[in-house]
Amino acid sequence: MLDDRIRCAALRGKITSAADAAQLVRNGMRVGTSGFTRAGDAKAVPLEIARRAREESEPLRITLMTGASLGNDTDRILTEARALERRLPFQVDATLRRAINRGEVMFVDQHLSETVELLRDNRLGALDLAIIEAVAITETGGIVPTTSVGNSATFAALAQKVIVEINLAQPLALEGLHDIWSPAARPGRAPLPLMRVEDRVGTPCIQIAPEKIAAIVITNQPDSSSTVLPADADTALIAGHLVEFFQHEVSRGRLPKQLPPLQAGIGTIANAVLSGFAASPFEALTLYSEVLQDSTFDLFDAGKLAFASGASVTLSAKRQEQVLNDIARYRDRLVLRPQEVSNHPEVIRRLGLIAINTALEADIYGNVNSTHVGGTHMMNGIGGSGDFARNASYAVFATKSIAKDGRISSIVPMVPHCDHNEHDVDVIVTERGLANLTGLAPRERALTVIEHCAHPLYRDILRDYYRDAAALGGHTPHRLDAAFALHTRFAQTGSMLP
Ligand code: COA
Repeated sequence: MLDDRIRCAALRGKITSAADAAQLVRNGMRVGTSGFTRAGDAKAVPLEIARRAREESEPLRITLMTGASLGNDTDRILTEARALERRLPFQVDATLRRAINRGEVMFVDQHLSETVELLRDNRLGALDLAIIEAVAITETGGIVPTTSVGNSATFAALAQKVIVEINLAQPLALEGLHDIWSPAARPGRAPLPLMRVEDRVGTPCIQIAPEKIAAIVITNQPDSSSTVLPADADTALIAGHLVEFFQHEVSRGRLPKQLPPLQAGIGTIANAVLSGFAASPFEALTLYSEVLQDSTFDLFDAGKLAFASGASVTLSAKRQEQVLNDIARYRDRLVLRPQEVSNHPEVIRRLGLIAINTALEADIYGNVNSTHVGGTHMMNGIGGSGDFARNASYAVFATKSIAKDGRISSIVPMVPHCDHNEHDVDVIVTERGLANLTGLAPRERALTVIEHCAHPLYRDILRDYYRDAAALGGHTPHRLDAAFALHTRFAQTGSMLP
């Protein structure tokens, strides 16, 4: 069986235990691992790094870079072992989140397309080690990734040494799904030659000099399944408003009837919204997205989706077994790319994407906070939402109009942290309705957002705020003495309501 998995015979002598491979790690190293939204993450060696950090008397603290979030509780275990000095570019783990918010781990919240560009330019320091999960190593030493590509190709190319985790639980049938492309050096870089969602522009594996592979570890463990919750009445309403809006845009001749390629962000809301397109009249949809969640396969099965391109496949437990056992059914309609390609500004602009991401909160002018609870405390990170929102033809942000049983309004006078500013945001949608902000001035935006998106519990509060602010004048009227009154009231009383 291993001959199939490690086809380069010269490398078979590199097989070792995870504990031995983890001995390659030294205090202060920069380590890049595979893993994007719980998919295709290195599953054994990082846990041995944590064990060493716990058990050894000398400190062992690293900078950990990944594609995006990890599964397998790896971020929690590394955090508890105090093995993380610095972490980038994204995470979703509750324990790590608390350590970040206590100031114990330096978290660098980065656009996901940008990390490897910074690494290539030597602006983040040299990468010491890459740990990459693979289904196989080819005859020529090519590393075939598993369920994500993320930043793996560039990590492997730039790192001094590479550890490969061959995961026997990931089916060999994944081989051929990936399209690995890296840009040339700047200046003089040629355009990314990707003209259509289904184009293949690279190679099916990560080709590095085989002698850089310092160790091979055999694992046998499926990806952690996704944690998204099923659609509910509110997310169904959000999906309904979006479908109606895009039908309207089609009827006006502003969009083709099969729509431009769609991108949908992480989390429960984005997944549910995309699933909602299964019941829409749209046909032959395409996805040029980052994470392919359950909704991608719902759309395939509903006959609505012609092709999906992403950086990872992250599925619920039920879907994971079904999709991976039956990958042949989907494989000619799927491609997995490096995140600098899936999130590439040039391609997003060229394809005219509809990008649907989730906000924690939006303000009446259309500025969006996706990351900082209460303006200060990190939730997950900006992820790819900025890559997409800035460059998409339609940048949509969805959120439920209230959170925490109505104690929080997701529409506020001014966001206390801004990830996506009003210049990047075209549409805000909640279960209450949709605000199309395209071509509107700030004063028009405020009225549209309040009337279409805010929850009735908060509408009068927001109307009063805007009326008083507008009386003071300005292009974007505000009452700076009251702009964060809802947030401060929540901090003091546990509710934004009076
Ligand atoms: N203030 C405080 N908390 C809020 C909030 C607000 N304005 N709005 C929502 N929340 C809370 C919810 O109550 C929920 O809390 P819980 O986990 O204790 O139940 C949590 O935030 C998640 O909200 P939910 O409504 O379930 O949305 P989600 O799972 O779709 O996640 C984001 C929403 C914004 C956290 C998530 O989409 C994200 O991290 N986005 C940024 C990255 C991104 O967009 N990537 C896309 C490209 S990959």
